[in-house]
Amino acid sequence: MPRSVIAGSGSCIPPNRVTNEMLSRIMDTSDDWVQERSGVETRYYAGPETSTSDLGLTAAVRALEMAGIEKADLDMIIFATMTPDHFFPGCGGLLQAKLGIDDIPCFDLRQQCVGFLYALQVADAHIRAGLAKTILVVGAETHTGFMPWTPSNFDYLYGKSDVPPTAEEFAWNSRFRNLTVLFGDAGAAVVVKAIADSERGIIDSILHTNGRNYDKLYVPGAGFKHRPYIDAGQIQRGDHIPVMDGRFVFRNATVAMSDVSREILQRHGLTVSDLTLVLMHQANKRINEHVQKSLEIPEEKVIHNIHRYGNTTAATIPLLWDEAVRCGRISPGDLVLMVAFGAGLNWGATLLRA
Ligand code: ACO
Repeated sequence: MPRSVIAGSGSCIPPNRVTNEMLSRIMDTSDDWVQERSGVETRYYAGPETSTSDLGLTAAVRALEMAGIEKADLDMIIFATMTPDHFFPGCGGLLQAKLGIDDIPCFDLRQQCVGFLYALQVADAHIRAGLAKTILVVGAETHTGFMPWTPSNFDYLYGKSDVPPTAEEFAWNSRFRNLTVLFGDAGAAVVVKAIADSERGIIDSILHTNGRNYDKLYVPGAGFKHRPYIDAGQIQRGDHIPVMDGRFVFRNATVAMSDVSREILQRHGLTVSDLTLVLMHQANKRINEHVQKSLEIPEEKVIHNIHRYGNTTAATIPLLWDEAVRCGRISPGDLVLMVAFGAGLNWGATLLRA
């Protein structure tokens, strides 16, 4: 049976670097609070002309280049995102069109911060079953669409205007501060390729969902539960912005990420000492410090980038992977554990030999 190896990766960080101090111009927050509670120092925002599929496109082109694979050789695209360009159709097909390739199957997965791990397992299953040989797996997000502030607030944030938010706007922006300070935009992609007779490749994935707690982190409005699915009342109430019970998510993330890591290692008779690197979802540095302590993972086996990018949801794990490969922290043959937790609630782990 063929195995699935990550043959190349690429990422795309949009140009607008936003510090915590810049955010404090438009809402009641501070650099100290955000750094101490989350570890985020900066994040990057895409401009209004750039969509999730655009970030995915740049990342995909770089991944194909690293893999040395022609785009015409792809036989599937799986796109993980919770911030698609349109309600429908999904970003997978839009990316296919932007790449200018044949009518291969392309689809989206909506598993939020665990989206990339779900997509990787689906890619692996297709490859093992002989249904595909070369699959592009993308995770990309433009969270700026969720940011509740006005275009004029954006200009003030970027220092392009001298007009500060009104007191009313400042209060409105501050209402969502627990969530908005955490997120940034990014795209990342990997090319997953069938490889025969090899120790390398995806070894196993364990994925979980608990839909009973969906409302601990979700978007209350802008959905087809409503008639019509979006209206002015929802926007006035702010129902189109995600709500999060941060403490609940935090507590559950620390336990679930530790447990699923143990579960997958035990299933293969492995311990942390066998791993070269652990790639943890970057939602909050304090969550990852808990997991690291609980699993006794030494510092040299983890890599963080939340301080630079914030939480980039489905892009986080492939972005970490891409940075780790490009700076020499992952080499062929290394044993890598990926682990993530997020809205859904979803969580999971993937074990692979690079
Ligand atoms: N700036 C300043 N003060 C703030 C901010 C802010 N940005 N946000 C909240 N506060 C205030 C609150 O209003 C509160 O004030 P009060 O005590 O006067 O009421 C105080 O800080 C404490 O608020 P908490 O929400 O209890 O702060 P906590 O220490 O829990 O940190 C955080 C909040 C960072 C959101 C944390 O709970 C967290 O990271 N949770 C998990 C996030 C996560 O993992 N998400 C999943 C992935 S995302 C996905 O799947 C899409």
